[in-house]
Amino acid sequence: MADPQARGASEPPARSDAFVFFGATGDLAFKQIFPALAALVSEEGFDLPIIGVARSGDLESLRDRARASLLAHGFTDPAATTALTNQLGFVKGSDDDAGTFHALRQALGGARHPLHYLAVPPMLFGAVVDNLAASGCADGARIIVEKPFGHDLASATALNRTVGTAFAERDVFRIDHYLGKEPVQNLLYFRFANSFLEPIWNRDHVSSVQINMAEAFDVADRGAFYEQAGAIRDVVQNHLLQVVSLLAMEPPSGASPEAVRNEQFKVLDSIRPLRPSDVVRGQYRGYRDVPGVAPESNVETFAALRLSVDTWRWAGVPFYIRTGKALPVTATEVRVLLRRPPTPAFGEAEPRDADDFRFRLSPDMSISLRTRAKRPGEAMVGEPVELYAAHHSGSERPPYQRLVGDAVRGDQALFAREDSVEAAWRIVDGVLGVEAPPHPYEPGTWGPAESSGVLQRGDRWHDPVVA
Ligand code: BG6
Repeated sequence: MADPQARGASEPPARSDAFVFFGATGDLAFKQIFPALAALVSEEGFDLPIIGVARSGDLESLRDRARASLLAHGFTDPAATTALTNQLGFVKGSDDDAGTFHALRQALGGARHPLHYLAVPPMLFGAVVDNLAASGCADGARIIVEKPFGHDLASATALNRTVGTAFAERDVFRIDHYLGKEPVQNLLYFRFANSFLEPIWNRDHVSSVQINMAEAFDVADRGAFYEQAGAIRDVVQNHLLQVVSLLAMEPPSGASPEAVRNEQFKVLDSIRPLRPSDVVRGQYRGYRDVPGVAPESNVETFAALRLSVDTWRWAGVPFYIRTGKALPVTATEVRVLLRRPPTPAFGEAEPRDADDFRFRLSPDMSISLRTRAKRPGEAMVGEPVELYAAHHSGSERPPYQRLVGDAVRGDQALFAREDSVEAAWRIVDGVLGVEAPPHPYEPGTWGPAESSGVLQRGDRWHDPVVA
């Protein structure tokens, strides 16, 4: 078994010298891992052995799969494809078979710091970790664990414990691809690289915060997966609570990655656990006809909820989240709504909306401040104007390329820490597995009308617009 304390806390992390991925013939490998690896090999000079582990196939079929993946993801340079396929190795076997892991140890040859990527269903994580430890493959190694990390608080805690038997926390990389997104990192940067924001970023000036993550597509061929998840497990517990943590955290006490992760944990830990009355769940009509979905399924494809962040900075400021499949657009947007002036100075009719900061996370990336300015003319009457603070076209590295590269380098800054993952599960745990049927909604609408029930004090949902 690996000695979790073998490396001193102050020693710089060693670069991984082999990359192993379990679930090599699966969907995630096809959609994300091959493209990320190809980009790392061709753009960032990664030259480590890459070993796929799967139940079926051989090295040639794995290479074919890699080629097909790269073709499907726009890699037109044959040199990039060849560079990746030349580095590939293959171990055939199953995740619960000790022999497979001995073969893997052989295949790793002299590698002393392999990085193991668990792109397999979560119920197999335990077996893989145990076998990695027993075979010596965990020695000096790191591990990347895909979401979902557990399916509730108890299972996430148990999983952390299992992973912890073979890997120290500094060697565990829990992927949440939202943390690898440029506009999500920019939330952190924008907040703390500018001093003008801090004096108003609190309950005195902010009346509410809302995050809308809308997806126009439905669950398509992911019915069986989605039945085990639902919107709250699929995107709220992880992606959207990570976004909340970056919006609501206190300034980090230094430049180290841990300083940021400490504050993320503290704010997640201060969010009140959700009660059923804080949440409205919805299900689009037609979901029950999707292959893999139970005809009587009560799994939610939509969730609207209100979070209370119990800190001095945010007490009384509702944080709203709304997300769903089969909504009118695909866009993710944060709005931080500012309080209105205490008394109207110009006798104009009160505008419907107060000023706000808008962080557009997708499909385009922008930060803007919507405010009011005087309309030309004799009357002291205004109109809304939008000041763009930033706007980028999105030429950034894809999240998986960024995150796999960071894991190889041993940089944990953009990975979810054990305590934060558990704190996030603690927030949603009380509203998982709710028996009550979700409210039905028509595909292409903004979810059930009942979703306004989570709003307070005349707040309203701000539908993201896509041009
Ligand atoms: C995944 C979820 O984690 O995130 C999907 O499983 C969701 O259901 C996806 O569609 C959204 O990611 P992105 O990067 O497209 O916003």
